[in-house]
Amino acid sequence: MQETIRPAVRLEGAVTLPGDKSISHRYGMLAALTAGDSVLHNYSLGADCQSTLGAMRALGISIETSNGVTTVHGKGLEGLSRPDGMLDAGNSGSTIRMLSGILAAQPFGSEIGGDESLSRRPMRRIMDPLGRMGARIAARDGQFPPLSIDGTALRSIEYTLPVASAQVKSCVLLAGLFADGVTTVVEPMRTRDHTEIALQQFGIPVEIRHGAISVSGRRPLQPAELTVPGDLSAAAFILVAALLVPDSDVVLRRVGLNPTRSALLDFLVSIGAPVEVLSIGEHSGELSGDLRVRGAQVTGGTLSGAMTAALIDEIPVLAVLGAASRDGLAVRDAAELRVKETDRIATVAENFRRMGIQITVRPDGFDVPGGQRFQAAALDSFGDHRIGMAFAVAALAASGESTVENAEAASVSFPGFYSLLRDLAR
Ligand code: S3P
Repeated sequence: MQETIRPAVRLEGAVTLPGDKSISHRYGMLAALTAGDSVLHNYSLGADCQSTLGAMRALGISIETSNGVTTVHGKGLEGLSRPDGMLDAGNSGSTIRMLSGILAAQPFGSEIGGDESLSRRPMRRIMDPLGRMGARIAARDGQFPPLSIDGTALRSIEYTLPVASAQVKSCVLLAGLFADGVTTVVEPMRTRDHTEIALQQFGIPVEIRHGAISVSGRRPLQPAELTVPGDLSAAAFILVAALLVPDSDVVLRRVGLNPTRSALLDFLVSIGAPVEVLSIGEHSGELSGDLRVRGAQVTGGTLSGAMTAALIDEIPVLAVLGAASRDGLAVRDAAELRVKETDRIATVAENFRRMGIQITVRPDGFDVPGGQRFQAAALDSFGDHRIGMAFAVAALAASGESTVENAEAASVSFPGFYSLLRDLAR
């Protein structure tokens, strides 16, 4: 599907974002492991989170959604049943990586795979720690989906993450729910802590000490009624769009503001973006609040180390902001971008080339000089939701009408993104 984007003079209005993708996955999986009914408000309708629900259904869990409320009829820690065919994670790395931790501990075998993009994503990072727990997992060419998982009893481990990855941390902690004893994950760098928070919401104590996160296995999970905040990574597209289009004034309602995610806001404010937190509160253990953003030119800067890791999903749209900033954007320590839904360094560079924007690509990042003007162009998501949305945002500030090919990819995390953008644009 192709979308046409016209340049905007101003963005104006108030928006409500889809439910946070990361939190939704965790709620969907954990609720299925409780012995009872959990009620999830604002669970993401994005295709990735629906892939998680589809997989839980295929494992014998009944789930309904109506009027923004998803009810999961959990069957307890030992209640999943053998799926009929291959579990389909679609485009979702979170689904395959986190769910594999659960599947590895089941008294049945299963297979899990997904679309073409997912089939190119590295799985050794979960196979290694799960293997140490006793899991038996085979992968295509030893490292790619589909995975064939021969469920078995797992033992608890202490595992130090070699790459900063919340998906891998979560996979090991979920596997630890089924193992005897205490499973500990040590993080070299802090990553999003939604699993730690969600486990506690479902009644599982989690001990967190100096970067070591521990759970005891074989404890029953309690059903819960929880609310998913708006997705800050989805908000990033609206924030940058409003910054790029002069005279914009946009309010974003009930956005997740978990401190392990909000590096984006710290960075934007540090480069002079007029982003205000209008209110802040806590629901289901997660912070959320309303934000206001107005159009303005930002200075630009450098992302590296822990900062890069903390806002890895936002880098494509920050690259767009960087090109229009005063001083540009340098990104380092971002080799992980090469193994996301696409090689995001390559797909950002290709769309920039089409818009006449200069970029110098490095193995672990890029340099985008500031003060550049976007030329209208035929752009492409390359099947990657964040690339399509980042360049739809660039197109709002372009010299004329642009198109985005394969625009439907946005529905992976942000259904309704293009119509929301049209509603805001003046
Ligand atoms: C996610 C963790 C990140 C992020 C992904 C969602 C999560 O991936 O890029 O979009 O929900 O835990 P990694 O764990 O591979 O860094």
